Amino acid sequence: MLLKILFSIVSTGFVAASPAPQQHGSHCPPISGDFNVTYFRLYSEGFDYDSIHCKAYFGGNFNATVLKKDLATGEETLLKFPGISGNPVYHVSGIEFNRAQGAMYFSANNGGAFSSKGVDRTGPNHLIKWDTYQDKVAWVADLSPITAEIHALTGYEFNGFQDMAQDLAGNTYIMTAFGHSIAKITPDGKPSLWYYNKNPTPSSDVGFVPPGNLALGWNGIFSIDNTLVLPDVITSKLWTFDTTAKIAAPKLVAPKNLPINSKLACDRSYPPPMFNGEIFLCSNDFNGTAVYYSSDCWKSAEYLGLVPSKYDGIPTASAQISNSLYSNNEYLFDLGLFDIQPGGNRSVFPFQDITSPVKALYAAATAKKGNPL
Ligand SMILES: *[C@@H]1O[C@H](CO)[C@@H](O)[C@H](O)[C@H]1NC(C)=O
Ligand SMILES: *[C@@H]1O[C@H](CO)[C@@H](O)[C@H](O)[C@H]1NC(C)=O
Ligand SMILES: *[C@@H]1O[C@H](CO)[C@@H](O)[C@H](O)[C@H]1NC(C)=O
Ligand SMILES: *[C@@H]1O[C@H](CO)[C@@H](O)[C@H](O)[C@H]1NC(C)=O
Repeated sequence: MLLKILFSIVSTGFVAASPAPQQHGSHCPPISGDFNVTYFRLYSEGFDYDSIHCKAYFGGNFNATVLKKDLATGEETLLKFPGISGNPVYHVSGIEFNRAQGAMYFSANNGGAFSSKGVDRTGPNHLIKWDTYQDKVAWVADLSPITAEIHALTGYEFNGFQDMAQDLAGNTYIMTAFGHSIAKITPDGKPSLWYYNKNPTPSSDVGFVPPGNLALGWNGIFSIDNTLVLPDVITSKLWTFDTTAKIAAPKLVAPKNLPINSKLACDRSYPPPMFNGEIFLCSNDFNGTAVYYSSDCWKSAEYLGLVPSKYDGIPTASAQISNSLYSNNEYLFDLGLFDIQPGGNRSVFPFQDITSPVKALYAAATAKKGNPL
């Protein structure tokens, strides 16, 4: 008995201290089919999966909380962050897992920048790094010095922080939606301004933001090794950056086969690990998840098709959970107006299994290139 206990302590210690050798959760319980997450006022705008410890993380947008859930056992914990959770100034939208670091990142951004449709761009923003091994906050980075610096440099208030991505050195890059800018945060949590557009595009009569403000440009970011990719609504191109370049300078890539009159409007942009960086999923905030393909690390790109949503929520994010791919349903109009506190009284949030249609689009694209799956 004692031996057995000792063995279980030793083996548990071993598992906790070193990443499982299997790639991207192949040791995790498999999952397939749609599921609901049932939790009062979850309103998950972003979610991701810790493929080391086999736990899903769902953002609680309006409460600025995060629900950590074991989808196999149902065990769940609501994570709260002092000064942020329950503070109506913040929304927790972007959620992103970095496997190399065993870190989950939470974007605690200024909800008012979005609910005001980009008109009020003065609120504070934070990035939280969560240590999935120790189950605690590693650091919270304050992004106010970044927006103040941009204001001093350009005279404009940039804001609307959303998603983030890491380079191979473990630095994190987080982008703004109103005014193109990227803040870089070192692995130990120190932010600096990495890129900004000196002449931000003014908003026009068409589009999300009323005239006289800054147009909505980027909605998301992902990385493949040291390449950052940001789909842009204004230019309908992918803005790509090399994080090792001395000066951050974008290269613009126009995806081939984009449907006519269709904008490159992507909320979360997500490269599922199962495709090794050759696919990114674009949650289009409207009727589904668009699928993009590149065989040359996003020097060129191709639109493959759309996986339609089958529920009535807004598809704002996708993620690979264990062996499957999921799209969410956010309900930003439950109070009539867009994205306002504290959300409605909804408790059931459906997640759609989009694995088969995405795999089929990828298989068709690679077959065309003579490289079948
Ligand atoms: C999710 O909940 C809804 C409403 O309660 C129910 O109709 C639906 O069958 C559930 N879906 C799944 C996959 O369990
Ligand atoms: C949000 O806050 C409400 C009111 O305090 C609480 O009942 C609910 O459980 C919270 N939900 C989440 C996901 O944080
Ligand atoms: C989704 O919306 C786009 C833009 O309106 C449209 O071109 C496309 O046909 C729609 N797709 C589906 C499956 O509804
Ligand atoms: C949510 O529930 C509260 C308490 O029952 C109620 O006062 C409020 O009107 C409800 N909100 C909506 C949008 O139904």
